[in-house]
Amino acid sequence: MCGIVGYVGDEECASLLVDGLRKLEYRGYDSAGVAVMGKNGLHVVRAKGKLKNLENKLVGEMPQGTIGIGHTRWATHGKPSDENAHPHKYGGVAVVHNGIIENHLELKEELQKAGHKFTSETDTEIFAHLIQNEIEKGLDLPKAVRAALKLVRGTYALAVISEKQPDMLVVSKNASPLVLGIGEGANYVASDVPAILAHTRDVVYLEEGDFAVITKKGIELTGANGQARKAEVRRIDWTPTMAEKNGHKHFMHKEIHEQARALTDTIRGRASVEEGDVFLDGCHLDAKIVQGISKIQIVACGTSWHASLTGKLMIETIAKIPVEVDLASEFRYREPLVDKNTLCIAVSQSGETADTLGSFREAKARGARGLAICNVVGSAIAREADDVLYTHAGPEIGVASTKAFTTQLAAFFLLAVRLGRLRGTLSADVARNHLENLRELPGLVERTLKYEDVIKAAAYKFSGARDLLFLGRGPQYPVALEGALKLKEISYIHAEGYAAGEMKHGPIALIDENMPVMVLAVRDSATEAGVNYEKILGNLQEVKARGGRVIAIHSEGDTMVPKLAEVSIPCPQTNPLLMPILSVIPTQLFSYHVADHRGTDVDQPRNLAKSVTVE
Ligand code: F6R
Repeated sequence: MCGIVGYVGDEECASLLVDGLRKLEYRGYDSAGVAVMGKNGLHVVRAKGKLKNLENKLVGEMPQGTIGIGHTRWATHGKPSDENAHPHKYGGVAVVHNGIIENHLELKEELQKAGHKFTSETDTEIFAHLIQNEIEKGLDLPKAVRAALKLVRGTYALAVISEKQPDMLVVSKNASPLVLGIGEGANYVASDVPAILAHTRDVVYLEEGDFAVITKKGIELTGANGQARKAEVRRIDWTPTMAEKNGHKHFMHKEIHEQARALTDTIRGRASVEEGDVFLDGCHLDAKIVQGISKIQIVACGTSWHASLTGKLMIETIAKIPVEVDLASEFRYREPLVDKNTLCIAVSQSGETADTLGSFREAKARGARGLAICNVVGSAIAREADDVLYTHAGPEIGVASTKAFTTQLAAFFLLAVRLGRLRGTLSADVARNHLENLRELPGLVERTLKYEDVIKAAAYKFSGARDLLFLGRGPQYPVALEGALKLKEISYIHAEGYAAGEMKHGPIALIDENMPVMVLAVRDSATEAGVNYEKILGNLQEVKARGGRVIAIHSEGDTMVPKLAEVSIPCPQTNPLLMPILSVIPTQLFSYHVADHRGTDVDQPRNLAKSVTVE
């Protein structure tokens, strides 16, 4: 939510800031702005709407200067408008902020009484006023920012520049992400690595409560305890081109097509078919720890929650440990039964989702051991975990999550096998079989993608639908939920995912000739049709009997399902627990082509942002 970028060095920085914002636009696109310090002081340019609007405004008004900050906004307080766009300037101070200041109204009232005039409805503007106040009292910029931070209550990633000390950026972080980039004769700050990847791959992730003064010569870092802290520099292995579109029309399309590579990277070096076991770098689970686990509690949001529902099936089937899956936003505020015998797994692509992070902390505070399944190295959730299992999906820029989902499933599968081996519920022979299936998966993903033309034709045919249902059973039920989420978020078509067996208990009333229904009717395994398959055939016929229009995803070679469906999409077959990794791909491509055909903004759908760092 909201993207921040900042630069200090010797180069003219306005266009560098805009380039950085382009890489952060997935975090929010309600407005954008830059503040650049030049010979004549601070120059702020802001525009409502997409970054394009700011770029248009900057033509002929490019601010000059070699220190600056930029922001792309996802509105929380105050509507999207030029006035509410960041940076906010007061006196000689300009500020960009990501987060929520809970006591801003009280502070604003006090300042107004003292004669301050506010020009926006945001909570952020308070910072500019508070900091300028402290500077007027005689404090230098770092001290003024510290004094202002003492007065606010809430979450923030903050970057500040001031005319008083035009050679420094002052930044601080509390619950919203911030990363520093270390360059040569120049230093950077950003909400996320892709914004600065074109300039440096050496980064420092800020911890909660960190405070930094950044000049072109270096960084002075202070921890939450007020003591100087050594900056731990990490080298990022993502290349700048990994965050580009590479000839695809949208990031989402590129990321769907990257899934074979992403899965290979996630599995590589971890699964040994020969030994029938899994080696998880970053996870310190041993037989004693695993024997002591009485329950696994998973917390996640959105697509990561759907992946977790499948993760539950994998762990319960393979490792025989009871698993509960909670929406992180619900888990936090109930009285969860979690103790030292619980393993809490937080699943998050970004590793920064506020609810997931909050739930993870809650579970850990109750004694649970914390394991993170994350994509972003060094993210908050990863840093707070006892064990980390990274999905190596690479940067996911499209707001709708695709490769993060399939790599999360692969990570869960690896974990389930490891837990099963350590717990003694899985023999080496069965593990070898599972891991062989996993090893074959990237090839099967490539084969699934080859059906894109069939899927695109189906998408065009149904792109005018007002509503759409997705049905699945067993491991395909979470895929139905995920398919529906993907369609609604990027095409704005109302869609619902249901466990197919639930149809009779209400949703079947919705079925008529205007209701397309996507049925995940794959076989349970290569050797048997299976109970889920047989039952879903029954559900499919119930839909058809009521005039519903069926789009079926079916196993390659199946002749039964295509006879019953108006449109049928083949999918390769594998181990039933891994089938969701294949069957979700047609739903991703279907949603993508529906949205593209309808002309929506696929990578930046309305009202959404990639990292939800506020509750
Ligand atoms: C949907 C989507 C969201 C995220 C959710 C959690 O396509 O991307 O539902 O899955 O906001 O995000 P992470 O995984 O970063 O915690």
